[in-house]
Amino acid sequence: MRMKKKRHGSERLELLSALVCADPVYLSKNVEGIYGNKNPLRIEIGCGKGDFIRGKSKQEPNYNYLAIEKIADVCTVATEKYAISRGLGELSLNGGWKKYDGTVYHYGDGAVDFTEDEKGNVRFAIGDAAQILKEFPEDSVDAIYINFCDPWSKKGYAKRRLTYIAFLEMYSDILVDGGKIFFKTDNKDLFDFSLEQIEKSKFILEYKTYDLHTSEMNDSNIETEYERNFSEKGFEINMLIAKNIKK
Ligand SMILES: C[S@@+](CC[C@H](N)C(=O)[O-])C[C@H]1O[C@@H](n2cnc3c(N)ncnc32)[C@H](O)[C@@H]1O
Repeated sequence: MRMKKKRHGSERLELLSALVCADPVYLSKNVEGIYGNKNPLRIEIGCGKGDFIRGKSKQEPNYNYLAIEKIADVCTVATEKYAISRGLGELSLNGGWKKYDGTVYHYGDGAVDFTEDEKGNVRFAIGDAAQILKEFPEDSVDAIYINFCDPWSKKGYAKRRLTYIAFLEMYSDILVDGGKIFFKTDNKDLFDFSLEQIEKSKFILEYKTYDLHTSEMNDSNIETEYERNFSEKGFEINMLIAKNIKK
């Protein structure tokens, strides 16, 4: 995702740092302490501005969600949009964060204080998901969402695709038995490649469609930013669900 460098990006992030997890591996081992409940953990890789995770966390609230995004400024925007969607305040016109009770937190004031209840069931993390997830414990994740990841179309780059077999093997380790991968892309070549990789893996294909928006899955679909853009341009959206079989 391209984004012009944000002014005061790091200060903005610091203000909302109660919603951002500095150590996702610690989070994976302390879900109850971080979210205040024992609900299963679900992960989105490359959350962009966070439309999907905001929608999903409302649609299926009995889960905890971790949205990982490697570009810090993009993650900051996702975190701010999530905070706004929960009524936790807004960006102050003169800089800083304004809570809806009127309190303004200026840059450098430290993290805005939120109650456990206000924070809700989503946390954000900045970094390369491929690096972060390989440190997660086995059987610690209920589902993984990959939406409109980079197709790495150039020859020789297949190993970088987030559905390459080596990634699937890592996902299989950290997912529980029966845990699922949900994958969406506009790119048919990447989709077909992903189906081939799933064939080689421990996952079984549970569902696939080459046209999500005309499928029976559309009613429950949560649209992402890229999905909206691509479908407005007339691209069909591919979607698959694959189930982890460990035994
Ligand atoms: C094409 S955008 C799609 C954003 C969003 N998922 C959507 O569908 O609108 C891909 C996003 O994934 C992020 N990304 C790509 N590879 C990543 C990785 N290995 N770890 C974390 N984020 C990643 C990019 O920075 C970018 O914001």
